[in-house]
Order: sequence, then structure tokens, then C-alpha cells
Amino acid sequence: MNEIKIFSPATVANVSCGFDVLGFCIDTIGDEMVIRKTKEKGIKITKIVGADLPFETEKNVASVSALALYNHAKPDCGFEIEIYKNIKPGSGIGSSSASAAGSVFAINELLGKPYNQTEITNFAMKGEAIASGCEHADNIAPALFGGFTLVKSTTPLKVLQLPTPKDLFVTIIHPQIEVKTSESRAILPKDIPLQNAITQWSNVGSLVHALHTEDYNLLSESLEDVVVEPYRSQLIPHFNSVKTEVIKAGALGAGISGSGPSIFALSKGKDTAEAVAEAMKNVYSKTEIEFNVYVSKINTQGMKVL
Ligand code: HSE
Repeated sequence: MNEIKIFSPATVANVSCGFDVLGFCIDTIGDEMVIRKTKEKGIKITKIVGADLPFETEKNVASVSALALYNHAKPDCGFEIEIYKNIKPGSGIGSSSASAAGSVFAINELLGKPYNQTEITNFAMKGEAIASGCEHADNIAPALFGGFTLVKSTTPLKVLQLPTPKDLFVTIIHPQIEVKTSESRAILPKDIPLQNAITQWSNVGSLVHALHTEDYNLLSESLEDVVVEPYRSQLIPHFNSVKTEVIKAGALGAGISGSGPSIFALSKGKDTAEAVAEAMKNVYSKTEIEFNVYVSKINTQGMKVL
């Protein structure tokens, strides 16, 4: 095989209480990438459609991660990468991770899968680091593994795959404003009060238990973030109204998707997720801000070859 086309999915990181550790994968939004072997050695970005991103190998997250794998594998060929972006950079639904993980996933396939998912995740983190200023895997892991993931540690990297309750749907609103991950990380306090830490780790534990037991009520109670959301929500216009309205529409809970500005809500059943979409649209239709709304089942497969 000399060429491969893949679907690289969008993801929701943090899932409210699990800052930098929890994430899940989306079905209906994602980038496409074409990766091809070349006689000329090295990694080259040859096409980018849908976003204004750098072509320089050392500046694009897709080529930086690809290079990390390439320098390790030392193959007898090079690779060129075409990126078709559907996930807007700065949207909070894992745009940089889709690029960073997509290139390494595809090159690994073309090389006959010498690396396992954890090793690929490690290479992808090198690309993600140039977008956000630090290596974290809470978008990359769900994009590669599918479903819900928990990053137990990054050094050494250990990813836990969590079960996905079968009736769980996500609704996402993406207000068309850009929030840079590096900036929304910079506004976070370095220390947190002990009482907030207690609430937060109780929520993370409960959320993981809820996923294992398909306990939608417990899931609902656990979707609370007392550490990060109070700071970052200030960067997202009408965040509190959206949250209030989606809960009224039947959502189990809502929060900031990754570093924002997208807002996600989880629901039991597609009908409720659609009603939640209407509630989100109602809030933002009254503003001047353009937006997109998506409803998706949780994607348990992750990245796929097209
Ligand atoms: N956990 C990351 C953050 C996800 O919230 O900053 C965004 O890259």
C-alpha cells in the first residue's frame, strides 16, 4: 500500500471534571487526510484545504508528530500529507489532535503497523505540544482509541479505555470565535483550594463508575467542574445561558469542550440530544455570533481508514 485516506474524528476533552485526563470521540465531525509514500525521504505537507495552517514541516502539528514517528522508524521512503480540515482550529473539539494523530495513524498503517496505539499516541503528543504549549493526550487518546478514555499518566504514557453507555449522545455548539488553547491554559490558577480538589476527584471517580455501570443519573451528577470552568467560561459568551437551557431541555449535563469555545452536552437518547441542539440554537440565535451545532453518537471506533 502506497497511499491511504483516513477519517480523523473530532473529540471532546476534559468532559467537565477530568481536566487533561478524560475525553471522548465524536462520530459526525472530523478531518480527512491522504498520506502517500514518496521516494524522496522526509515528511512534507503538500495540501491543506479548509484552514489557514502552516506548510512548514516543523510548524504544522501533523508533520511534527509524523516526524517523531519517522525519526524513530527510519523507513526507506518519505511521506507527503494532504489535510482536508473540517474541524476549525481553535474550536475546542480537538482540531490539532485530529491532525497530529491522523498523520501518525496513517503512516503507521502504511508501514504495516509497527507501533501499537499507545506508541502512536506518544508520537501524536509531540504535534499536539506545539499547538497547546504542553504535551497532553486527552484529545489524542480518544481520537485513536475511540470511545471514552482516561489518560492515567503521560510519562510513561498509560491510556485506559472506558466503556460507553449505549444510549449516550453528545450535542455540541461551536460559536465561531477562536479561543487559543495556550491562552485558555494561561488563565488557569496554579493552585486549587483543597475543598475544590475534593469535589473534583469525587466527580471524576463517580463519572468513571457511571460509565462502567451505565448509571445515567450518576453521570449527570458527576458532570461538574469546580476547578477550570469558573475561569474559562468567562471566555465563552452566553455559556451560563446555554448550560441552563440545555439542562431544561433534558441534558444530563454540559460543560466546556476542551479549552472552548465549543460547549458540549451529554444526553440519554437521540431525541433528547436533538432537543438540546434546539435549546443551544435558541440561545445563540438571539446573538450576533455565528455558530454550528452538531449531534453525534459517541464514536467507539475512533480513527478509521476510508
Ligand atoms: N485538556 C486540554 C485543555 C484540552 O483543556 O487545555 C485542549 O487541548
